[in-house]
Amino acid sequence: MNGAAQQRPAAVSRPRIGFLGTGRIGLFRMQSLADSGLVEAAMVADPSPEMREAALKIAPEAEVASSLDDLLSAGLDAIVIATPSALHAEQSIAAFEAGLAVFCQKPLGRTEAEVRAVVDAARKADRLLGVDFSYRHTAGMQRIRELVTAGTLGHVFAADLVFHNAYGPDKPWFFDKALSGGGAAMDLGCHLVDLALWTLGCPEVTDVSGRLVRNGQPIRNDSDDVEDYASATFMLDSGTQVRIACSWHLHAGRDAVIGAEFYGTDGGASFSNVGGSFLDFRADHHTGTGTRQIAEPPEDWMRGAITQWAEQLVAGQGFDPAAEEFVTVANVLDRIYAR
Ligand SMILES: NC(=O)c1ccc[n+]([C@@H]2O[C@H](COP(=O)([O-])OP(=O)(O)OC[C@H]3O[C@@H](n4cnc5c(N)ncnc54)[C@H](O)[C@@H]3O)[C@@H](O)[C@H]2O)c1
Repeated sequence: MNGAAQQRPAAVSRPRIGFLGTGRIGLFRMQSLADSGLVEAAMVADPSPEMREAALKIAPEAEVASSLDDLLSAGLDAIVIATPSALHAEQSIAAFEAGLAVFCQKPLGRTEAEVRAVVDAARKADRLLGVDFSYRHTAGMQRIRELVTAGTLGHVFAADLVFHNAYGPDKPWFFDKALSGGGAAMDLGCHLVDLALWTLGCPEVTDVSGRLVRNGQPIRNDSDDVEDYASATFMLDSGTQVRIACSWHLHAGRDAVIGAEFYGTDGGASFSNVGGSFLDFRADHHTGTGTRQIAEPPEDWMRGAITQWAEQLVAGQGFDPAAEEFVTVANVLDRIYAR
């Protein structure tokens, strides 16, 4: 570890950022940061010439790095990682050991052990770690969390969350468990586990059970095959039962079915995508048979996580202990995959 990692980070007026992996989501997030004006997009690294070229269209002044080592020795303040999932943990740890802050795509690691190692490296370096749990930043989920936190729903005893994607991923690495860490549960279920825990104040998770399916047939939870349909139930020590279901390539009659329902003794709340959209969400607060809409589209939520991270970086924030929440999410996924 170099000397920089031993010192607390200071406020930086326009941090210099490197972008590692500028594929589909990497380009989106890079554009968001460029639009924010909060940071300087100083360097890009991607083995694909086509993707590097696309990144340079967003940040024509950026230098091209030929490796992670190049990025880490360029005097940057932070890196944004959007590479295939298997690389996230080791790349994040290398960045922390070099004294940089990190914003990483989900999943932060393929297993709890990987995620734990990243969070420990961030804590040791006292550097900011952000993960792109983007749905936390929808207005609907923010309003529902406020209702739960204020006690308006009473004791929340049940939560049901779904994320069905009629298409599924388009890159082969998603279907190789060694590279992705898992199928639909890892890809989409991690958002649902995170949303449930974040909304409910991150209570301890007790029993977890999951069922995995590939091409309509059950597969073992520890199978090397990746599931295209997963369901899981887990209990929280607050007494809440959480059920999640997620899938790729489901005959859903629309592009996507995304929703989160929270049922309490004094009320309920639901978050749902509108018309099968991946982007448009509404949220409602229910009391008995009455419903009050509390959020509606349009909104620009997808840039929320990375913008918040950039604002914290500019303010000089170091390690945030809330990063422990990423370890809990990974622990639930490990238990779904019988690891
Ligand atoms: N937060 C979200 O909601 C969300 C949405 C979509 C994808 N993701 C996550 O983002 C990650 C990337 O997904 P994607 O769909 O953009 O995949 P992608 O395949 O389009 O992009 C990955 C990029 O990484 C590059 N790459 C591969 N190895 C590299 C290396 N060693 N160094 C630098 N670059 C390297 C590839 O060339 C490619 O351009 C995945 O982990 C995925 O789970 C998150």
